[in-house]
Amino acid sequence: MSDINFEGQRRYSVLGLSGSASKNSYNTHLLKAVGKMLPSNVDFKIFEGLKELPFYTPEIDNDQERPALAQAFRDAIRNADAVIIATPEYNYSVTALIKNAIDWASRPYGAHSLVRKPILPLSASMSILGGVRGQLHLRDILHSTESNVVARPEVFVASAHTKFNEDHELVDQDTINMLKLAIDSLVAHAGLQA
Ligand SMILES: Cc1cc2nc3c(=O)[nH]c(=O)nc-3n(C[C@H](O)[C@H](O)[C@H](O)COP(=O)(O)O)c2cc1C
Repeated sequence: MSDINFEGQRRYSVLGLSGSASKNSYNTHLLKAVGKMLPSNVDFKIFEGLKELPFYTPEIDNDQERPALAQAFRDAIRNADAVIIATPEYNYSVTALIKNAIDWASRPYGAHSLVRKPILPLSASMSILGGVRGQLHLRDILHSTESNVVARPEVFVASAHTKFNEDHELVDQDTINMLKLAIDSLVAHAGLQA
C-alpha cells in the first residue's frame, strides 16, 4: 500500500500478474516493459508462482488447509495499490492459469482482495487480434469480482513476436505509445500521483 518516503514523496506499489507460464512469454515480457515505464514513485513487482497454485477447491480454503502460496497471493493483491494483468488468449478466453489465480483471489465472497482493486488488463498474442477475445473475457471476470477496471485505452498487442527484440525488450513504438496512455490512465484511475 502507499507510503511516504523521507523526501515527502508518496510511493505506491503495483503488482503484475502474467497469465502465461511460458519461460519466453510475450505477456511476461510485456509486463516487464510496463513495469519499467511506470512513474518513479511506483514500485512494481510480478507475482511469481501462479502456476504452483493448486486448482481452487472450496474444501481447502480454510485457515488450516489453505496453501501458504494462496494466502501470500491474496495478501500481495490486498497490499498493492493497483494490479496489472497481462494474459494470452487460449481458445478464445483467458488461460486457466490466470482464471485459477483470480478464483483464489476472489474469496471470501464480497470481502476479497479484488473488490474495488484498480486493475489494468493487457493482452499479447502472436495472432493479429492481440488476444482481444481473451481480454474481453478477462474484463467480464473482473466485473464479477467488483474490481475497478481501467476502461480505456484497451491495449491488445497483436503479432507480439514482431514487437520485441532478441533481448525480449519491447521495441515497437506504437505499442510503447499506447502503453504510455494506459499507464497515465491507471495512474489517474488508481490515484498513484506523487
Ligand atoms: C492451448 C492454446 C490455445 C491458444 N488459443 C489462442 C486463441 O484462441 N487466440 C489467440 O490469439 N492465440 C491463441 N493461442 C496462441 C497464444 O495465445 C500465443 O502464442 C501467445 O503468444 C501466448 O502468450 P505467451 O507468449 O505470453 O505465452 C493459443 C495457444 C495455446 C497453447
